Amino acid sequence: MSTKEMSTSEEVNEYLRQQNQLDLLRFITCGSVDDGKSTLIGRMLYEAQLVFEDQVATLLKDSKKQGTQGGDIDFALLVDGLAAEREQGITIDVAYRFFGTDHRKFIVADTPGHEQYTRNMVTGASTADVAVILVDASQGVLTQTRRHSFLTSLLGIPNVVLAINKMDLVDFDQAAFDQIEAEYRAFADALTFKTITAIPLSALQGDNVIERSSRTTWYSGPTLLGFLETVEIAVDNNEASFRMPVQWVNRPHSDFRGFAGTVAAGSIAPGDPVQVLPSGQQALVEEVILFDQSLPKALPKQSVTLTLDREVDVSRGDVLVAAAAPCEVSDQFDTSLVWMDQDAGYVGRGYDLMLGAKRVNATLTEIKYKVNVNTLEQMPSRNLSLNDIGRVTLSLDEPIPFTPYLECRDLGSFILIDRYSKATVGAGMINFGLRRAQNLHPTATTIDSQRRSQLMGHKGKVIWLTGLSGSGKSTIADALESRLHGMGIHSYILDGDNIRGGLNKDLGFTEADRVENIRRTAEVARLMADAGLVVITAFISPFRSERDMARGLFEHGEFAEVFLDVTLDVAESRDPKGLYRKARRGELPHFTGIDSPYEAPESADLRIDTSATSVEECVDLLLELL
Ligand code: ADX
Repeated sequence: MSTKEMSTSEEVNEYLRQQNQLDLLRFITCGSVDDGKSTLIGRMLYEAQLVFEDQVATLLKDSKKQGTQGGDIDFALLVDGLAAEREQGITIDVAYRFFGTDHRKFIVADTPGHEQYTRNMVTGASTADVAVILVDASQGVLTQTRRHSFLTSLLGIPNVVLAINKMDLVDFDQAAFDQIEAEYRAFADALTFKTITAIPLSALQGDNVIERSSRTTWYSGPTLLGFLETVEIAVDNNEASFRMPVQWVNRPHSDFRGFAGTVAAGSIAPGDPVQVLPSGQQALVEEVILFDQSLPKALPKQSVTLTLDREVDVSRGDVLVAAAAPCEVSDQFDTSLVWMDQDAGYVGRGYDLMLGAKRVNATLTEIKYKVNVNTLEQMPSRNLSLNDIGRVTLSLDEPIPFTPYLECRDLGSFILIDRYSKATVGAGMINFGLRRAQNLHPTATTIDSQRRSQLMGHKGKVIWLTGLSGSGKSTIADALESRLHGMGIHSYILDGDNIRGGLNKDLGFTEADRVENIRRTAEVARLMADAGLVVITAFISPFRSERDMARGLFEHGEFAEVFLDVTLDVAESRDPKGLYRKARRGELPHFTGIDSPYEAPESADLRIDTSATSVEECVDLLLELL
């Protein structure tokens, strides 16, 4: 291809946009480490020559020279969607390579092959037209092949190349090829691909990569590059309703206020009426700005700044939409979720959800099923472990604008982030919003918590005791309640062993059950505190995540986390119920401190070493805290 010089950033942007629309093919490659993926990509790059990458580098320099809004805006056109994550400091290990032939330009997202790299596939695949799924001819279709195919289908990638590689190892045997192809098609039948093209290859020796091989005379289909050069590319639907997530509010000086982002769908022109979601405020677009120039119209994938004709509240993460055709807003979703972390995901546990530039608290409220990727069977489960793909309901702390993933990928895909490790633990696609919450209207009561506490003579509060079994939770809770009672303070103890005999009778001691145990307990504590009681909870509550969730239900000052800190040795030597001895004998699995973890609080409101403090002293400390 030519390496035409371009002088302005706008030209650059427009050029990339056109390339994008007309003849730029995005594809991903997936396969196991040994399938020959790197060899295949290497060969294609080598034979097709790496011209595009250099050119992009020049273009980037150009836009930097123009001194506009950061030189990487136009680059985001190429690696769209990822710019936002980069800004957040989330690393995504996908290598993008750009290359071109006389017929087309290509961007390939090279996703590593190990099972644990599934996440890269999800994050790298979002806008691909084609997935090249590699199979080793001597191995055939593997679990990994099926997982990648299922994901590819969930991601809405329409075309699959089943690259049956290493044909040299099976002597270019047609029967071997046919058998793998048939097995794959039988599996993929239940998936949603538009086309499946099986190609016999030897990446190592070059057969059917670019040149037609003389060793597969029985094969009449295209070569790999031939296919990639001619497969139909889905063009952006400019007719769709306008949607643009706001990446940042641009306010260089007091009389300019612009909203910058990348058009996710539809088009936008000066004078168009828009709505800001979730607030619903309306305005007219005054100007559409690309770098320092005014545009008559902006199209999908263009990164622009919009100014509006009146003052409205817009912040990062809001979405500007066509006023007459806004997208939905919800706080509960049915999603397809890929779990990407070593630590499993549990129903009831909270994470940070990022959709575009929006970051909100999200809780897994239900795992409807997870999918056995080999059989596509739906299996019930209380958790998602590494590489699991599940149908999951999420509930957010606040409503956010969205679209179903298949309608608009930018507004329908999200990642989940662990609040403590900051790792990306899941990537998902919204299937649809749930209306459950919208049909619930919290009833206001005449007597509110303030009036109840007036009658009580004190406010409701929660003292959350946490610590190992044998750390003294029940004993101290009991002593504290006796003291409070004597002072005329209305109180109630929620104790693990008691609650587990009733409300939580259905729960055991797996991680999933403990998460649910604490979720219910925290909700009950909230109701009781709202009723005006001083609630003392005595639960091991071993996980930081759920203790923080409990805290999150209360106003500042209403909730105190108290860590009864004793060493395992001390707790074990006390062993009031003989459970440590049982656990050591192997008769009690998942016992906290022995073979189930306890995550000590890092910032408890109070820490008491109960091996060095008498019960009455503990009560004094707690009363001080109250
Ligand atoms: S939590 O981990 O879910 O917070 P919780 O405080 O409700 O636990 O229950 C702990 C009590 O259950 C212990 O005091 C002990 O009497 C009993 N128990 C029975 N099995 C276990 C176990 N595997 N691990 C910890 N406690 C257990």
